[in-house]
Amino acid sequence: MLSRIVRPTLTAARNFSTSQQNNYKVTVCGAAGGIGQPLSLLLKLNPLVTELNCYDIAPFTPGVACDLSHIETASKVKGYFFDRFAGQESLKDALNSADVVVIPAGVPRKPGMTRDDLFGSNASVVKTIFECASVACPDAIFCIITNPVNSCVPIACEVLKKANKLNPRRVFGVSTLDIVRANTFVGEMCGVNPKEVNVPVIGGHSGITIVPLFSRATPKVTIPADKLDALTKRVQEAGTEVVKAKAGHGSATLSMAYSGARFANNVMRALMGEPDVIECAYVMADVTDVDYFASPVKLGKCGIEQNCGVGDINEYETKLLCDALEQLKRDIQKGVDFANQDQ
Ligand code: NAI
Repeated sequence: MLSRIVRPTLTAARNFSTSQQNNYKVTVCGAAGGIGQPLSLLLKLNPLVTELNCYDIAPFTPGVACDLSHIETASKVKGYFFDRFAGQESLKDALNSADVVVIPAGVPRKPGMTRDDLFGSNASVVKTIFECASVACPDAIFCIITNPVNSCVPIACEVLKKANKLNPRRVFGVSTLDIVRANTFVGEMCGVNPKEVNVPVIGGHSGITIVPLFSRATPKVTIPADKLDALTKRVQEAGTEVVKAKAGHGSATLSMAYSGARFANNVMRALMGEPDVIECAYVMADVTDVDYFASPVKLGKCGIEQNCGVGDINEYETKLLCDALEQLKRDIQKGVDFANQDQ
């Protein structure tokens, strides 16, 4: 797992001028949680990260940071937790001047819940973090893992917009786990090493809004027609597969930590100037009828360099996309309304 995250970085370090920045300050919000801890571990192992700030409302967060700080990599780790007497000051300190902020803060699903059921708990978590970020690190690249991603990214953008700090090229909903899952399932089905597979996944990050594009997989794969529906559903419902298997003990944490670390690593590679870094992500976009959409995006020194859009898709995928857009519209509006409700 580690080699996949670290190897491109080492190659990049050989190929690019040493005058370019290759030391990034990364803050993880929600660092003491099921995703946050292994994600922070993977970031501590990433040679591009020189400062790692771990923030969580959990009071044992400095302990998580202390634990990580004993790992023999050069980066410095600091822990911050919410102190009710100091308000959001520790969050602001944790975010201060961060280059990259990764956010897995909030409640995960229990069996029977949809991601949208988390809105009531997690919308305000995201709002608070972005209110502080708009002051402490408005120029950071933001990677939002908190569900429902479809609504949380609009909340984040609306909060930044109100503070006059929105740069839509720098706000990402992390949908990488959908791609990772699609790669794995296609690899298993077609007898190909999943590391060599790349399936773009577009739309959003919940249920029918997840639209895997098997027709655009590389290397080219042929999914038998009688297996296509089941494979599509498996990718759309893979999160629920984990929630059920964990039987009330949370949702995907380890595969999400891997995916979050992969995404953050690619963001940093692109910031460093490495060309042709393309990842699917859920971002503010004008490539369809909805204002936020997941598609392959080319990353660069300023965040999104180019949105590659939907591209060529077949009839089956077009039908999936139409259904996804209807749901996405509602999810996005819910986020926008929440962020503006007290205006
Ligand atoms: P968890 O409950 O294990 O950890 C969440 C952490 O967030 C806890 O340590 C909690 O103290 C902290 N937290 C809560 N409110 C906070 C606040 N206001 N500020 C800072 N920290 C706060 O949950 P887990 O499993 O780590 O999941 C976190 C989120 O990630 C959930 O919303 C989950 O649905 C989402 N998720 C997203 C995926 C994706 O593909 N984008 C995949 C899997 C989970």
